[in-house]
Amino acid sequence: MDFYETNNSPISGKTVICGIIGDPVEHTLSPAMHNAAFQNMRLEYVYLPFRVETNNLGRAIQGMRALNIRGLNVTIPHKRAIIATLDEIDPLAEAIGAVNTVVNTGGLIRGYNTDASGFIKSLAAEKVNPNKKNIVVLGAGGAARAIAFILADRGADLTILNRHRETAQGLADWIMKTFRREVKPFELNLENMKISLIKADILVNTTSVGMSPNINETLVPAKLFKPGSVVIDIIYNPYQTLLLTEAADRGAKVISGLEMLVQQGAESFELWTGRKAPVDIMRKAAMKALSNK
Ligand code: ATR
Repeated sequence: MDFYETNNSPISGKTVICGIIGDPVEHTLSPAMHNAAFQNMRLEYVYLPFRVETNNLGRAIQGMRALNIRGLNVTIPHKRAIIATLDEIDPLAEAIGAVNTVVNTGGLIRGYNTDASGFIKSLAAEKVNPNKKNIVVLGAGGAARAIAFILADRGADLTILNRHRETAQGLADWIMKTFRREVKPFELNLENMKISLIKADILVNTTSVGMSPNINETLVPAKLFKPGSVVIDIIYNPYQTLLLTEAADRGAKVISGLEMLVQQGAESFELWTGRKAPVDIMRKAAMKALSNK
């Protein structure tokens, strides 16, 4: 008889604690996803939300050490600032300049980035290979940085469109310097979108346009989508944004941001537990938590 059969509550003196820090954290699907995975694997772990304000970030990481919290996910607005509080950083996270997963091993705190690899796995799950593809990225913020980095690393040819052109230029310069490959930055407007999408194999939206509650918004006119192309939105609420609905109607293959969320979570789970993540269970739990919102 195992722990889950003999106890009404999954909490005991041996329970290992994981969680998420961010501000806000109320909207997160991660507790549902990770607790379902822990239960499915019969692991004595729990996953909790912690709202941490920016001025408390250093103390939160000290607290992680003091309280022997095993692992944390890190979300907005702490993904960059947390780096200064860590003992060690994984080379990929260091190169990207953002950490979304922290592991505490006997008081040694190490940061990782599973957003970038989670994004790549969400493509692989749909048999999409970015190598030598023309990829248009909408947005140049924190999420775009991780995604553009990993896409360039996997051999994609990138065009970055952003509302403020200077930010697109900054991201493009960084990628060009790191990978010695050309990246084209443009202002996000209708004309530039038309020109870029004619040649594009893949489009990725990394902006918040179309996210709940603004579900009737999209940056891309429907007539610009081509059959056979791939359109990815990193938004997971709603599960299918207007951008994806219109792209699918025009014959594009579409990938929801929920898949990236699930894949980055699965990799965090594996870092904390050393066990293979039950990805289907995590996807189902995330979908259920989303439908209850
Ligand atoms: P994240 O970490 O989620 O990427 P962020 O760093 O604040 O968040 O980046 C948000 C991105 O969405 C930016 O590229 C932003 O464009 P600007 O750099 O021009 O501000 C983009 N974005 C947000 N709202 C937008 C809108 N209404 N139209 C176009 N782009 C928008």
